[in-house]
Amino acid sequence: MIYPIVKYGDPVLDKPAAAVTVFDAELKKLIEDMFESMYAAHGVGLAAPQIGIAKRIAVIDCSFKEDPTARMVIINPEIINKEGRQTHSEGCLSLPDFRENVTRAMKCTVRAQDVEGKWSETGGEELLARALQHETDHLNGKLFISHVSALKRDLIKRKIRKLQKLGEW
Ligand code: NI
Repeated sequence: MIYPIVKYGDPVLDKPAAAVTVFDAELKKLIEDMFESMYAAHGVGLAAPQIGIAKRIAVIDCSFKEDPTARMVIINPEIINKEGRQTHSEGCLSLPDFRENVTRAMKCTVRAQDVEGKWSETGGEELLARALQHETDHLNGKLFISHVSALKRDLIKRKIRKLQKLGEW
């Protein structure tokens, strides 16, 4: 099932999501639906709040279907290490058509549970590190625009308010 993507302005994106405590068939189905919804929206990462579900689950595929081993599911993730810095243009499915340069750690390590509830450490660098940080932010109620200057953020918010008035958001 493909879920519609929740856009900026929906309060579900602004609050920390709840920890996952039940690892059952329903969770597996939700994760499959999250991958499907992410691909349908042409994204490389999706957090559950972005489909209106306030749970600490995110899916990532930086290869966008090219490499099946690149599919990653992080449940109840915590970033346990960050190294270096990188600055790149970043976007978000919940903020369509807005991109800004965001500085993040070049490498990061995350401790997370898998679909069976098993904990492990996973990590990456460059784009994958960026995705891990971006998606973990979502689960903490944070969007990438919180990492840009107040001036740029206000400009984006103003543009969105205009689009909302026009019924185009
Ligand atoms: Ni996002």
